[in-house]
Amino acid sequence: MPDKPFLTDIKTLRQRARQHIETGAVTPGYKADRETVVRLLNEALATEIVCVLRYRRHHFMANGINAQSVAQEFLQHANEEQAHADQIAMRIVQLGGEPNFSPEGLLTRSHAEYVEGDSLLDMIKEDLIAERIAIDSYREMVAWLGHDDPTTVRMLEGILAMEEEHAEDLVSLIEELGKAPPR
Ligand SMILES: [Fe+2]
Ligand SMILES: [Fe+2]
Repeated sequence: MPDKPFLTDIKTLRQRARQHIETGAVTPGYKADRETVVRLLNEALATEIVCVLRYRRHHFMANGINAQSVAQEFLQHANEEQAHADQIAMRIVQLGGEPNFSPEGLLTRSHAEYVEGDSLLDMIKEDLIAERIAIDSYREMVAWLGHDDPTTVRMLEGILAMEEEHAEDLVSLIEELGKAPPR
């Protein structure tokens, strides 16, 4: 056995857990800068909400121009972005913060933009751009958190994997439409 024990001894762990019980899931062992994590998560929440709105608009518009399979894909993405928003809001509350659902300033907090797009191809390209922005910002958050908040990291990695799938879906849609992917 190494001379430095891997775990904090049980007595210390129990003592620490009893202190500040009102902070719930946030124990003194929480290593990250909680305020910054909550702020970053609120930006991610705004990003997801903007993506829900954009995908829903695209869903109804694509339906209107008889592009049913693309419209279905947009709807599925919209619902998955909504699930991400809910996961993030739940984590913010666990961390003792408040999820910001205010429409005021939503676009300023969001990393991704709300672009309506004129044609089906336009819509898909805009969604792809938004996914790529989300992918980069989630990857950056995961790297920034490092080992300081494993639960948030695990959640973000799950969301990141799905955004990568979304981006892949959109590239396939562009290929199906017989156009080169945007550069
Ligand atoms: Fe998402
Ligand atoms: Fe996505």
